[in-house]
Amino acid sequence: METHSKEAMIRKLGDPELRKRSEEVPLEELSKQEFKDFLKTLTQAMRENHGIGIAAPQIGIKKRVFLMEVDQNPRYPDAPKLPLLTLINPTITSLTEEKEEVFEGCLSLPGMRGPVKRVTKIKVDALDAEGQKQSYEFQGPFARIALHEQDHLDGILYFDRIAPEDLPRFGFLEVLQANGVDLSINRATPAEWTKLP
Ligand code: NI
Repeated sequence: METHSKEAMIRKLGDPELRKRSEEVPLEELSKQEFKDFLKTLTQAMRENHGIGIAAPQIGIKKRVFLMEVDQNPRYPDAPKLPLLTLINPTITSLTEEKEEVFEGCLSLPGMRGPVKRVTKIKVDALDAEGQKQSYEFQGPFARIALHEQDHLDGILYFDRIAPEDLPRFGFLEVLQANGVDLSINRATPAEWTKLP
């Protein structure tokens, strides 16, 4: 189902499309107008829903593509800024074994947050929107966003990563807040990103 309607619906938990593996994008597809339109739709869907990242399967397109962008964001007011990055056929390498726990949310599970432990420093290799190979090093919250979005491409949702003993702290944002849980995504490891040569 490859619809590119202007108002892309965000697929929500329970939709089987979210659980499927997405396919690599063939290089020749990148220059096509249909692909450019899809990137526009994906960007729009992320911005309209105040995401700091979005993966193609979240709008029902099973392509290995995700976006990251952090600007003034009401869902994550403490998140540091990041310009729009388009990552096509991304691969991720961990640069540390050190993990930290931060509460994550997802546009596909509106109103919920859960504690997920992830590594704090990664390298991402991907094609950009122009088909150029890019490598990035991400730390802290930026590494987390990339790992969360990469998981979407394999049909994995963040609560799949929550350890059984931590599941009691997975819940509705307003309830967690009322119980004094620290929901800041900008925790121990500072947010840093570098475009590698
Ligand atoms: Ni998500």
